[in-house]
Amino acid sequence: MLGVEDFVNEAIEDIKSKITGKAIIACSGGVDSMVAATLTSKAIGDRLLAVYVDNGLMRKGETDEVRTMMEHMGINFKIADAGEQFFAALKGVTDPEQKRKIIGEKFIRVFEAEARSFGADTLVQGTIAPDWIESGDGVRDTIKSHHNVGGLPKDLGMALVEPLRDLYKDEVRDVARFLGVEASERQPFPGPALAVRCLGEVTPENIEIVREACFIVEDEIRKAAAAGKMPLPWQYFAALLPTRSVGVQGDRRAYGRTIVIRAVESVDGMTATYAKIPMDVLDVMATRITNEMKSQVNRVVYDITNKPPSTIEWE
Ligand code: XMP
Repeated sequence: MLGVEDFVNEAIEDIKSKITGKAIIACSGGVDSMVAATLTSKAIGDRLLAVYVDNGLMRKGETDEVRTMMEHMGINFKIADAGEQFFAALKGVTDPEQKRKIIGEKFIRVFEAEARSFGADTLVQGTIAPDWIESGDGVRDTIKSHHNVGGLPKDLGMALVEPLRDLYKDEVRDVARFLGVEASERQPFPGPALAVRCLGEVTPENIEIVREACFIVEDEIRKAAAAGKMPLPWQYFAALLPTRSVGVQGDRRAYGRTIVIRAVESVDGMTATYAKIPMDVLDVMATRITNEMKSQVNRVVYDITNKPPSTIEWE
């Protein structure tokens, strides 16, 4: 790759020459889409619309963080509030693959409607080199049908511009730092969002439980890493199991839900080893989760499997 500054200047010139009308990009707040949106915004200003689809399945505070990021970068953006549509489409569905398909399709429909009303004739995507080099023979695609914001179909009837096509992840992060994009250090987060961490039916109530548990796990692990107790894992989160187990609350029998703590080390997500979280950190997380969600969760377990044989996410 060229020097970062040269890359940025060339990319902006290239985008200017390619986009003469209006363009749209789907932006989840992930580093690739944020960098692509920032470069495009610098090139064509408000002729770009960045759309963040709020599917109701995002992490605690995530929508506000993305809003702030967009504002800081001066990007013309819209938050498409589609949570109710997603929950309605997912009602009664428990099969992991079906959930993924429903979420992927709904996302496309919501995004298409935004593109139409903005009058976009160009689609900008944050595709990076590994996305197209690996596509087709990616092992993970045969295991789970992946959905991400780059997973839009080719037939949306718009011209395609991919400013990061030749970059690898570390190079995208360099560009992000150069541009001041705050997403540059975020951990990976799956396209179907908290739905794949909520085993069984995806309801607003279940998502609320896993959202709070994810927040506690992220918070405690970040604090432990900052205190030098452990390295910050590559990815760390909570999952909610659909089964109940017997517990005791005060002197009463409780029949509550189980939260799984999952943290892994990985380079590219294709293989992973479980992160060795110190016992005292696990202890704090388990206590916080069962205290703060007393009426719902009475058990916390720690996932100590590597990938393979398991996968990083539970669905
Ligand atoms: P798995 O669970 O397959 O996950 O071991 C590997 C990595 O991919 C993330 N992941 C996804 N990312 N769309 C994405 O953009 C998806 O549908 C998806 N499913 C899983 C997962 O969080 C991990 O980092």
